[in-house]
Amino acid sequence: MSDIQIEQIRHDITWRIRHEVMYPDLPFDSIKLEEDKNGMHFGLFANGQLTSVVSLFHEGTVYQFRKFATIVSAQGKGYGALLLNHLINYVKTAGAEKLWCNARVSATGFYNKFGFIETDQRSLSNDIDFVIMELQLNN
Ligand SMILES: CC(C)(COP(=O)(O)OP(=O)(O)OC[C@H]1O[C@@H](n2cnc3c(N)ncnc32)[C@H](O)[C@@H]1OP(=O)(O)O)[C@@H](O)C(=O)NCCC(=O)NCCS
Repeated sequence: MSDIQIEQIRHDITWRIRHEVMYPDLPFDSIKLEEDKNGMHFGLFANGQLTSVVSLFHEGTVYQFRKFATIVSAQGKGYGALLLNHLINYVKTAGAEKLWCNARVSATGFYNKFGFIETDQRSLSNDIDFVIMELQLNN
């Protein structure tokens, strides 16, 4: 993990990784969000290569991140953790009271490590189980 940079990126730059990691079997356009143009988008570059992306939206002091993905060949190397820590620090500085996500149930163990708590709001979409997870922030 020598050369790591986290930068804000244009929304359309997230689309390739979103598609290839999260929904490779769906049409490319399915990973685009109505709200993308209103969001903030962060990319982690490892040795100059875009490796992990996440998108951030908010209503007042309640922040939501969506479409968090690390390229498959780079998963489990700590990049996602670096990016999520960056995001948490970013929203804290912005005055967030809460950060939440609609997590894939398969990823809840990852979010637990950062203090996110599962709610009872569960759903199923594209055959994938989701649960809303929240991180309360003390601002
Ligand atoms: C979930 C995801 C973004 C995590 O990114 P990553 O770069 O692989 O995560 P890291 O390597 O930084 O993992 C940090 C820690 O979380 C653990 N972890 C990663 N993914 C996990 C998962 N799905 N379940 C439980 N633990 C997980 C790692 O083992 C590591 O543990 P350690 O600190 O004990 O070594 C990535 O695996 C991914 O893109 N998955 C497919 C798409 C997806 O599910 N996105 C989330 C949608 S809600």
